[in-house]
Amino acid sequence: MTIHDFSDKKAHKIPITMITSYDSWSASIIAECDIDCILVGDSLSMVMHGSRSTIDADPQLMALHVKAVRAGAPDAFIIGDMPFLSYRKGLKDAMECVELLMKAGSQAIKLEGVRGHEAIIAHIVASGVPVMGHLGLTPQSVHQLGGYKVQGKGAQARQQLIEDAKALEDLGCFSLVLECVPHALAAEIAQLLRIPVIGIGAGSEVDGQVLVLHDMLGLSSGPYPRFVKQYLEGRALMTEALNSYARETRERQFPSSKEQYA
Ligand code: KIV
Repeated sequence: MTIHDFSDKKAHKIPITMITSYDSWSASIIAECDIDCILVGDSLSMVMHGSRSTIDADPQLMALHVKAVRAGAPDAFIIGDMPFLSYRKGLKDAMECVELLMKAGSQAIKLEGVRGHEAIIAHIVASGVPVMGHLGLTPQSVHQLGGYKVQGKGAQARQQLIEDAKALEDLGCFSLVLECVPHALAAEIAQLLRIPVIGIGAGSEVDGQVLVLHDMLGLSSGPYPRFVKQYLEGRALMTEALNSYARETRERQFPSSKEQYA
């Protein structure tokens, strides 16, 4: 996958599939699957480090996880997430973060919003780094949004979302993540833009989907947002396996003759 495949897939109406990964073992499994690209999202601060929001992620942490994912999936197209404030403290800080993520193994970066950091986005693109935008529910702004809520409701919010999406396209973004917006609005934005729109909680009439791996595998403790489809009861399966190991150990069934040396 390259950034050209993103536009090709949109042109041929083939939905793009993206999934998060934060470590080498899950990346190596994804690499064996028919998934187009991997997002090392800043959601890792919640999923892997137990934070209450994505605000705790920083450039070094993101780069560490990108490096691990690259090790597990050497040929995958990896998008590294720019963490909280990393692109709001001026060009130098932003470019240092971009450098960290790209040198750790990303092929593109993702950042949230557009207003106020247009020049930084343009500079990153002009530096030869593909940029994925992210609009709608932007978790780094959770406190300003007043919680994890559906965005783009009401005429003004709707108009602003459309204008922001167009602005990101005009700034040279190669794709856009649209999170938690009414499906009709997401469909309209996907139709308006030439670049692909990848949805999460944005309905099916967009150009692709992204999910958090741990949510779709049922590994998170929940509660899950409405837009998550659980493809596996991962937590229940792991609990069962761990309890079997503990029980067999206590009952001296494990290790059996098969698992011991003569
Ligand atoms: O950080 C993340 O995992 C994300 C996705 C939810 C799009 O930004």
